[in-house]
Amino acid sequence: MKMADIGLIGLAVMGENLVMNMESKGFTVAVYNRTGDKVTNFVEGRAKGKNIIGTYTIEELVSKLEKPRRVMMMVKAGDAVDNLIETLLQHLEPGDIIIDGGNSHFPDTARRTAYVESKGLLYVGCGVSGGEEGALNGPSLMPGGSPAAWPFVKPIFQSICAKVENGDPCCDWVGENGAGHFVKMVHNGIEYGDMQLICEAYHLMRDGLGMTAEEMHKVFAEWNEGELDSYLIEITRDILGYKDEKGETTVDYILDAAGQKGMGKWTVISALDEGVSLTLIGEAVFSRCLSAVKTERVAAAKRFPKSIPAFEGDKEAFIECIRKALYASKIISYAQGYAVMRSAAKTYGWNLNYGGLALMWRGGCIIRSVFLGKIKEAFDKNPELLNLLMDDYFAEVIENLVPAWREVIAYAVKVGIPMPAFSSALNYFDGYTTECLPANLLQAQRDYFGAHTYERTDCPRGQVFHTNWTGKGGSTHSSTYNA
Ligand code: 2AM
Repeated sequence: MKMADIGLIGLAVMGENLVMNMESKGFTVAVYNRTGDKVTNFVEGRAKGKNIIGTYTIEELVSKLEKPRRVMMMVKAGDAVDNLIETLLQHLEPGDIIIDGGNSHFPDTARRTAYVESKGLLYVGCGVSGGEEGALNGPSLMPGGSPAAWPFVKPIFQSICAKVENGDPCCDWVGENGAGHFVKMVHNGIEYGDMQLICEAYHLMRDGLGMTAEEMHKVFAEWNEGELDSYLIEITRDILGYKDEKGETTVDYILDAAGQKGMGKWTVISALDEGVSLTLIGEAVFSRCLSAVKTERVAAAKRFPKSIPAFEGDKEAFIECIRKALYASKIISYAQGYAVMRSAAKTYGWNLNYGGLALMWRGGCIIRSVFLGKIKEAFDKNPELLNLLMDDYFAEVIENLVPAWREVIAYAVKVGIPMPAFSSALNYFDGYTTECLPANLLQAQRDYFGAHTYERTDCPRGQVFHTNWTGKGGSTHSSTYNA
């Protein structure tokens, strides 16, 4: 049998499916798994008769690879990746490429890139999105790491990834060191936001409008035909329409306590590190936390009983307002997510292609949507765009959505249905579009108790002042004295 084009380590579902995908595109793949039985099961099962070579040691795996060797790890994030890199380094040689397709945290990827490069090899940290189905039929791939590795992984990655309607691949080089895993993390954060927005719209329809799952199933089916056309709206439509053997809607029986694996949290921590507002995703993470304390909520609901009044008004018209409010909030979420990426790119020296990122997410992944095509257009038109809201297209869209957005949130506030993501989005919009925020008073407070100084509206930026607010104490300020 001919030598393999690539080696893959880690035959869990994602790994296996990626191998099947690569093989179906004409590549020969050598596979290895820590537990050897899985290799045997795979090569004698799904992989039988295909150009897939089973191996039982790392040494054997490496011996089957065409040079420069490409080895992709699809294993649990964390120590397993570091340990495998150590073992691989003993068998590979300079110029070979180690690829991590797992969910590693981007600082780990940055560290590993530097380490592997110091040994003369190349490293790629690649975000893989789209779940099991995507891995098999076309994932969204976000590779970053050693730029010199890209020409060697590009033919494989761009042939196995998802494609948009015109055939463009949902995979391109993201940037150096941890850039690929960073944008994958932001992708997951945005996914948290999109899911939360859909859940809040559902909550308002269920408890505010008294709608059944069946009725909402129809609403989501309609929404999926328009601007909101996306994978997450589509699966929500299907979930709301799903009935068990007894004819009962399954979603109505699912316990409302959400889990999380930490990608949303990491995204928000990065935003805090960058000092950039990422309020919507922050609310999405905290909403999961609040949902998780189910027992406490049950007790609190007893202590503070509420009865939501029946909706009086044009239900159809209000549902359309909810759709508009959801769309407006979604635009804000992406505007915030892109702002974090722009800031991190500056911090870490990545030259991110923002339009290209939208294209990578346009197909194959969980947040895929028609809307991302519009974001790509916005950044293609102006790669320096500071905020999505300032793109002509989105500015006009959001202006038209504002009245409905306010109406929906005002109603929810009035009747007591929490809509943290919708509201935080509107608050961000109102803050971002306000020329004079009350931070003048805040600066005065800081100067009062901590002599932190302030700038003045009637003086050039950078010139600082301190006021002796109480008449007591001196005129020492914080550049010389820190309380
Ligand atoms: P296993 O089948 O031997 O458990 C997802 O868990 C994948 O990561 C599996 O293929 C698993 O291998 C692999 N994996 C987890 N920890 C690993 C480790 N420390 N070394 C190698 N592979 C590991």
